Amino acid sequence: MSRAGSDGRRVVVTRALPAAWLAPLAEAGLELDVIDQHEAPSTAELHERVRGASALWVMLGDRVDAALLDAAGPQLRVVATFSVGVDHVDLAACRERDVALANTPEVLTNATADLAMALLLALARRLREGEALLRSGRWAGWGPQQLLGFDLDGARVLVVGPGRIGSAFARRVRAFGARVTYHGRRARPELDEELGARFEPDLEAALARSEVVSLHAPLTDATYHLLDARRLRLLPPGALVVNTARGPLIDEAALVDALRDAHLGGAGLDVFEREPQVHSGLLELPNVVMLPHLGSATRGTRQTMAALVTDAITAVLRGARPANLVGDP
Ligand code: GLV
Repeated sequence: MSRAGSDGRRVVVTRALPAAWLAPLAEAGLELDVIDQHEAPSTAELHERVRGASALWVMLGDRVDAALLDAAGPQLRVVATFSVGVDHVDLAACRERDVALANTPEVLTNATADLAMALLLALARRLREGEALLRSGRWAGWGPQQLLGFDLDGARVLVVGPGRIGSAFARRVRAFGARVTYHGRRARPELDEELGARFEPDLEAALARSEVVSLHAPLTDATYHLLDARRLRLLPPGALVVNTARGPLIDEAALVDALRDAHLGGAGLDVFEREPQVHSGLLELPNVVMLPHLGSATRGTRQTMAALVTDAITAVLRGARPANLVGDP
């Protein structure tokens, strides 16, 4: 798609996307400039392509910082990220340049909570090890002590970050009979009432009492390495850790140590500290289930996320205020 002759209504899209997702932008008379590849462009390419753009449709692998915004230029009006998380975006740099920032909240809540539940079930019932045994051709038939798992019914589950996704996960795990405690900035009386959940303001006390911990907090300076070596050891022996939020919430090297010496019973991870790299220690462990950051990856969810992004871009470019602005531009 053409990049030349921008009339100030050019939208740069940083990955190849289905035409149907992009259609509302073309229908609004905007000029599309799609970086037509599935992997993240280099910083140099991104900086070169955004020059003169009015809007950017970015992904969570794209660093949106002052340098990128300046490379785009003062005509840039809006950055819309195809994610709920905005830790890859320098919010202050957007604000200083009067660039609106939009994200895709709510629509991916159920898909992401489903995936956290899938990881927990896979860990609790040792799906990966069972599958491997079958595929190895070494299965000798039903055994009374074969691959014994962990009961979710009655399990003590800690939800760290009871926002939309954390609350949706809490509902799911409660439906399996677990007893839910949550840790966050404030109590959520609606969760207490609906799920019989319990707020625990002291994270360390909560960890010490939990057989499962599932992370749903955003990545900020305050949550970086929230589960470090010491806190991982506060969990009772055999505890399961699930992370569908952001990799750097856990010190990955410390997690490998705690899994290797069997302090932890297992980890279910959809996110990693240095994506797309994965700690080699994790790859070697049988009691780790890993996915390549698939939280929101369902057809319907991604389509709805795309609609939120195109709504935000078209709204800002016609001078309106989109529903999904992050902070005040
Ligand atoms: C996925 O991680 C997202 O933030 O949408």
